[in-house]
Amino acid sequence: MPSSRIHFIFFCQFLLALTSLNLSGAEGGRYIGAVNCSTSGCHGGAGDLSKQHTIWFRADRHSRAHSSLTTARSARMAESLKIENPATDSRCTSCHAPMLALPAARKTETLRPEEGVSCESCHGASENWVRSHTRTDYSRSQRISSGLRDLEDLYLRSNTCVACHQVIDQDLVAAGHPRLHFDQAGLSDREPRHWKEIWGQPQLWAVGQFAALRELSGHLAQKQSKQQKINPQEQADWESSLWLCQQILQTLPLENPSSLSSPAQATMELTRQSDQLTRLSSKKIWPKDWDLKLQEALQNIQSELKKTSRQDQLSQKLKLEKVERALQSLALTR
Ligand code: HEC
Ligand code: HEC
Ligand code: HEC
Repeated sequence: MPSSRIHFIFFCQFLLALTSLNLSGAEGGRYIGAVNCSTSGCHGGAGDLSKQHTIWFRADRHSRAHSSLTTARSARMAESLKIENPATDSRCTSCHAPMLALPAARKTETLRPEEGVSCESCHGASENWVRSHTRTDYSRSQRISSGLRDLEDLYLRSNTCVACHQVIDQDLVAAGHPRLHFDQAGLSDREPRHWKEIWGQPQLWAVGQFAALRELSGHLAQKQSKQQKINPQEQADWESSLWLCQQILQTLPLENPSSLSSPAQATMELTRQSDQLTRLSSKKIWPKDWDLKLQEALQNIQSELKKTSRQDQLSQKLKLEKVERALQSLALTR
């Protein structure tokens, strides 16, 4: 399980004490595997209502996440990390094949952990809802209370995606793994989507930035408390993430926002504040003019940064990188 998930769960238990999100696999029904969703009458068809498995299987990189661990690139990474087999080592499978870590009691014999990041990785273990979720007399809330994760809820959705898309051990990056920076709007656009999107790009992006700050802050605060070394790249990632969230808060009139503190180092208090912001900013769909406000503000920040930025400073460079990526993602519409 990636460390980001560990501290997200830690936060839920420790501070929020209630959440229907269960990424730890510690409770709920068993995982039955994507094959059970794939018949043409269910999600393996061609029509709009039934093509989710077809899209995931044919076009979504998540269905190939495990086989990425058997490529030459993965072999090179593994060699420099002294990992014997990346396809079975939890340092890789925690994100690329999360089902491998499930205890026997949580699996049925139809589950194939090599299916990578599959339906149940995002929608939740389905044993307890797979039969009832097709019943027409079942309401959305009944489905959700039987364990189907409510991914329309942008807070729960952001938590699900960020768990694998932000915090990664720096020695993996040094060994050649792509750097991760959670850009929920960009990811959501690149994802071969098997759903109708109700959230706009700017909101997906901004909520994602608060979630990313929470993950980075929790990760670094934990490292500090264990007196582990924080490398300059991680520190700069966190600093630029905090800065960017502060820019969002200055731009948008969010109701009752918790204003972010500016500690020199990541703290648990900041982790709690950014969790609150993630929750608050995903409550309802934003008014249209906020989209424009955000875009304009980011454009101004970009030109200011270009004038003043000292490219030799890591965190300045990251700020500009972040703003440029944001502007690209915000401009995407479909
Ligand atoms: C269990 C971990 C996990 C979860 C949860 C997860 N992903 Fe991924 N995602 C991955 C991995 C691993 C890859 C790389 C797959 C490969 O090997 O090519 C990936 C790749 C992607 C890609 C293709 C790479 C890129 O940057 O364009 C997109 C898009 C993406 N994920 C979007 C999402 C979105 C949106 C969510 C939430 C709805 C999400 N992911 C949830 C693990 C996860
Ligand atoms: C924290 C979650 C996480 C962990 C742990 C992780 N990965 Fe990834 N990996 C990802 C995500 C997300 C992507 C997609 C990134 C992108 O495209 O920008 C990815 C992409 C990759 C890719 C590139 C796939 C492609 O076709 O471009 C390879 C190869 C890879 N990972 C191998 C590994 C190996 C080997 C390990 C273990 C040493 C590992 N990963 C551990 C999340 C993770
Ligand atoms: C990377 C995470 C991820 C994976 C993997 C994934 N889904 Fe989804 N799925 C989502 C998200 C996010 C939504 C949008 C939820 C919403 O707005 O209601 C969604 C929506 C859906 C919907 C509702 C469609 C709609 O238009 O409302 C169905 C049905 C569905 N998924 C089935 C599947 C099946 C079957 C699989 C496996 C073959 C799968 N999903 C794999 C993230 C994922």
